[in-house]
Amino acid sequence: MTIEIADLPRVRFRTTRAAQKICAGLTARLGWRHQNVAARLAIARSLSLPTPPPVLTEEESDDMATAMRGAQLFGEGGDLAAWLALITQHHGNREMPKRSLQAMVTGHRTRGAELLQKDWVSSGREMGPFVVRLAELANFPNDVGSDNGGPAAPSASALASEVRLSIGEVARDVRTDENVEFVLNAPGGSPHLAIMGGVGSGKTRTAVHMLRQLRRFGNVPLLAFDFKGDLAEGLSAAYGADVLRPPEESIPLDVLHVSSDDDIAIKRAAARIRDSIASVKSRRPSGVQSEALREAIATTLWTGAAGTTITLQDVARALETEYEERGRSPDELTSTLNELTQFDLFLPDRSPADFFAKSWIILLPQDSSDEMRRLVINLTLNALDRWLNALPDAPTDDEGTRALRHVTLLDEAHVVLRTKLQALANLVRMSRSKGGVVLLASQSPDDFEGVEESYLDNMGMTLAFNTQAKPGPTSRIFGSSYSLTALSVGEALCRVRSEAKTRKIQSWEP
Ligand SMILES: Nc1ncnc2c1ncn2[C@@H]1O[C@H](COP(=O)(O)OP(=O)(O)OP(=O)(O)O)[C@@H](O)[C@H]1O
Ligand SMILES: [Mg+2]
Repeated sequence: MTIEIADLPRVRFRTTRAAQKICAGLTARLGWRHQNVAARLAIARSLSLPTPPPVLTEEESDDMATAMRGAQLFGEGGDLAAWLALITQHHGNREMPKRSLQAMVTGHRTRGAELLQKDWVSSGREMGPFVVRLAELANFPNDVGSDNGGPAAPSASALASEVRLSIGEVARDVRTDENVEFVLNAPGGSPHLAIMGGVGSGKTRTAVHMLRQLRRFGNVPLLAFDFKGDLAEGLSAAYGADVLRPPEESIPLDVLHVSSDDDIAIKRAAARIRDSIASVKSRRPSGVQSEALREAIATTLWTGAAGTTITLQDVARALETEYEERGRSPDELTSTLNELTQFDLFLPDRSPADFFAKSWIILLPQDSSDEMRRLVINLTLNALDRWLNALPDAPTDDEGTRALRHVTLLDEAHVVLRTKLQALANLVRMSRSKGGVVLLASQSPDDFEGVEESYLDNMGMTLAFNTQAKPGPTSRIFGSSYSLTALSVGEALCRVRSEAKTRKIQSWEP
C-alpha cells in the first residue's frame, strides 16, 4: 500500500539519538525556535547527495530518539507535499509503502545530521561560513546570486550528437567477442569515466584513445593536466589545444572572477577560493588562518568588483594587511602564499566562459613543486566548477541525448583526488546535466574514495586494468566474483553503469 498525503501528518518519524543530539546542538547555537528546522535541514543535506542513505546499523536502531509526527517535521499542506515529492523523487520509486518512507526519512535525517556536523566544524563553528557552505551545496541557479558566467554564459557551445566510444583500441568482450562501447551522453546516464590500474597498465593510452575518438564527433573543448608529458602529443593537435607550462607560461584565466558584486556571491566565491588555496599545503591552516585568508580574498574580490584588475598577488598583500590588523605575525600561510605568488601562475586575460571555450593542456611536470601544482589545479577546477555548474542545463534532443560542453582529463588523478577538493566533487556530482565530462585515471582503487561518497558511484563507466593494490571500492562496483589481480596485460574489467553488468574485455592487445 503506498502512502497517502492525507495520512502523513500523523505518521511518526524517528532518528537516532546521536543525530537528534547534533540537531539539538545546532538549534541551540543558531537560535532556531523550532526543532524541526534542524531536522529539515538535515534531510535536505542528505538529499543533496545522489546516493540513497545507508540503512541504520543494529546498534543505531537500538538507540533511537523520540519520534516526531509528520505534521511537526514537515508542516502541512503544500510544504508537506513538497517534502514527500523531494524524498520520493530522490528514492526513484513512487510506490513507497509507509514503512519504506519512514525508513528513508530516518536514513536521510541521520546521515544529514552527521553531514551538518561536519559542515559546522569545517566552517570553524561560525554561522556565516556555515550558511555560505550550505548555500554553495544548494548550487542556486544564476538568478539567485550566482557569481559567474552571467547572462552571456548560455551561449557556451555544445556538441549535440550521440558520442559512442570504443573502450580501448581493441575493446572486445572476452566472452562474447562483441565490440564494447560506451555512449558518453546516453539519455539519463552519467558521462564520467574512471580508469584505474597499476603502473604501465595502459590507463593513459586508453584515455587518450577515447578522447581522440570523441573529437571525431565534433568540437568539444578539453582541459587536461599533464604530469608526465605523455598527453600533449596525442591530444594537442586533435583538440587544437594550447600547451602551457606554468610558471614560465601563465595560464590566461581569471581565477578570481566574480560577475556580480552581490554580497552573497562574493562571500561564496571567497570561501571557495580560500578552500582551493588552503588545500595546497598538506597541513591544513588553522581556523584563524583560514578565516583571515577568506577575509583577504573577499576584500580583494570587492576591489575586483569595483573594476580594478586583481591577481593572486593582491590576495597575498591583502592577507598581510589582514594579519597586521589582527596583530598576527607572518607565518607559514603568508610565506607560502608569498612564495607561490612570486610567479604569475594566472593572468586575468580571459573570463572562465572565454577560457573554457577553448582547449588547453597544462604541463605540470614532477620536478615542479607540489604546492604550485596543486594551486594551479585547484584554482582552475574551481573556476571550471563555478562556471559550468552555473550554466543552464545542456540541451537534450528528442531521444534524450545530451549535448556536451566540456571535457576534463585528470590523469594521475590521485594528485587531485587526495586534496578532496570540493570543486572536483561538484564537477563529478553535478556537471553531467550541464554537459560536463570528467575522465579520471589513477592507479589505486582507493584513490577514488571521496569525502562523502566514492567518486566511482557517479561514473557512467569504470574500467580497471590489472593492479596489485587493495580492491577498495571495486568489489561494490564490479561485484565480488571479479579480481583485478588476475587480469592479463591489456585486459580490463568494465562496468557501463546503464548496462548493469560487469564485462571482462580485451581493451588493448599487447
Ligand atoms: N593500446 C595499446 N597498444 C599497445 N601498447 C599499449 C597500449 N596501451 C598501453 N600500451 C603499452 O603499455 C605502456 C604503458 O601504457 P600507459 O602509459 O598508457 O600506462 P599507464 O597505465 O598510464 O601507466 P602509468 O601508471 O605509468 O602512467 C605503453 O608505453 C605501451 O608500451
Ligand atoms: Mg599514465
